Amino acid sequence: MKLTLRIWRQSSPAEKGRMVEYPVEDISPDASFLEMLDVLNEKLIADGEEPVAFDHDCREGICGMCSLVINGTPHGPERNTTTCQLHMRKFEDGEVIDVEPWRAKAFPVVKDLVVDRSPLDRIIQSGGYISAPTGTAPEAHSVPVPKADADRAFEAAECIGCGACVAACPNGSAALFLGAKVTHLGLMPQGQPERWDRVVNMLETHDDAGFGGCTNTGECSVACPKGISMDVISRLNGDMLKASVGGKKKR
Ligand code: FES
Repeated sequence: MKLTLRIWRQSSPAEKGRMVEYPVEDISPDASFLEMLDVLNEKLIADGEEPVAFDHDCREGICGMCSLVINGTPHGPERNTTTCQLHMRKFEDGEVIDVEPWRAKAFPVVKDLVVDRSPLDRIIQSGGYISAPTGTAPEAHSVPVPKADADRAFEAAECIGCGACVAACPNGSAALFLGAKVTHLGLMPQGQPERWDRVVNMLETHDDAGFGGCTNTGECSVACPKGISMDVISRLNGDMLKASVGGKKKR
């Protein structure tokens, strides 16, 4: 395949960025999007130019590190797919493809396509944990969990914290991320001791970090590579309300 890439280049947070055009050719339709960028970078290095900086780690759709806005959509055109699992056969030969970093006030650009997503880590540090003792895993049936709760918690736990929800949201809100963590931990018996402090502390950290408020546009859930449902935001709002009126109510 032959493609024209228009890539956001920005040498540092203080510099002004711009789109730069790069032609690439001999790209296999079976290459992943990141492998296609590898081909470009190898050519740039061979030509003595600065390679394009982009985040990645597992390349298996697990870690949430890959984070590109492709043709205006976080993680590109394929639903429920991370950038690293997106393949070039989803594009047309000869296509012009725009590649940009996550765009959000809370995610400043570090370099090129890399943004600082540490605000999501700070949200987790403020409440995304449980105080159950560590050690040998307890016998599976010693703490019964209703099947419906286990299923909902499991679905919420699929959030890989990539930040696509923030990049897709017109308000730059991380409500879907927050809702996924609050739902995952709040449905489990082990998550009950910190349940009410968790939602208050995580939401405060979220707002302090510069994320915007949720206005239920739903873009977050559409962009989420794990298909996290907007239901988690309803649960987040419900827990926040209960926490603010006493923090002792049962679900
Ligand atoms: S690189 Fe790990 S999810 Fe894409």
